[in-house]
Amino acid sequence: MPWQREHMPCQQLMATAVMELSKVKRNSEQQLLQPTMRTLVLKIQTYLSLMVPNVTYLACSSIFQVLFGSNVTIAVQDPSYPAYVDSSVIMGQTDLYQQDVQKYGNIEYMRCGPENGFFPDLSTVPRTDIIFFCSPNNPTGAAASRDQLTKLVKFAKDNGSIIVYDSAYAMYISDDSPKSIFEIPGAKEVAIETASFSKYAGFTGVRLGWTVVPKELLFSDGHPVAKDFNRIVCTCFNGASNIAQAGGLACLSPDGLKAMQDVVGFYKENTEIIVETFTSLGFNVYGAKNAPYVWVHFPGRNSWDVFAEILEKANVVTTPGTGFGPGGEGFVRVSAFGHRENIIEAARRLKQLYK
Ligand SMILES: Cc1ncc(COP(=O)(O)O)c(C=O)c1O
Repeated sequence: MPWQREHMPCQQLMATAVMELSKVKRNSEQQLLQPTMRTLVLKIQTYLSLMVPNVTYLACSSIFQVLFGSNVTIAVQDPSYPAYVDSSVIMGQTDLYQQDVQKYGNIEYMRCGPENGFFPDLSTVPRTDIIFFCSPNNPTGAAASRDQLTKLVKFAKDNGSIIVYDSAYAMYISDDSPKSIFEIPGAKEVAIETASFSKYAGFTGVRLGWTVVPKELLFSDGHPVAKDFNRIVCTCFNGASNIAQAGGLACLSPDGLKAMQDVVGFYKENTEIIVETFTSLGFNVYGAKNAPYVWVHFPGRNSWDVFAEILEKANVVTTPGTGFGPGGEGFVRVSAFGHRENIIEAARRLKQLYK
């Protein structure tokens, strides 16, 4: 099927694994489920082993807000993946939306733009209970350096904050930026890390990810966060389906790891085409090097107007920067997740539009 082409190696491996799973003699549900989940956790541990010896729990990644409750304050990068703010609103952590500044009250928006190297000026950020931090960041594509993450860990430690670190795009990192917050000494006492197969193996829809909650991470009364996390996971989520688990196992086999690298490599080539397109037209672009996203600057322009212009005149879909927070004004995010011929055609049309 042509629409699957870029993910073919991963999908073939997953299809084989799922077929194998269906052949397993079904003595009882329990016997079938338990070994798969245990093996998957062990494989993820091995995959992360150099960085994290204690993987405590495996779970879907969007339940942190339930863990923390409505009576906490949060900080997010601005711009950032909208789920952090949206889940905070749903949990009732925020005050009303303030139209004039396009922000929810009671959320700390940490500005991340070209002027500060896409890393917040922590000296001006007030203390919050939770800090959501994504690196490489969606939408800017910026990956935080070791030095920056060291500062973030110290900031969290000094303030008694918990970092929820989203490493969904870590495999796209090409330079020496850390791929995990746990590469930073002391991070185990202040951070939870969440990751996903979505961007490495086309799992969006299938949905499988993992969360690392170190045993060393304690609430201020000394209670391990991992214990509460386990309780929440067991209450809200009965575990990933066998099919998803079999797919995850296939991805972590030697062939699967190679297939995921190939998928990531393919999208990084797309990124290069997009960067070349916009830079040849005289635009400043950011991100791209460590992420499947190109963050294109249209100084002084409204990001929705730029989005509409590109959509209506070139029939190309981008994402308006302000969809990710007020800090995205003047930018659009261009995604490299596409078929090569579509990327090339989009590049041709963009060159026509902005020549
Ligand atoms: C930063 C970030 N985290 C998490 C996700 C979601 O991953 P999943 O499909 O595993 O829910 C996305 C998807 O766009 C993302 O951009």
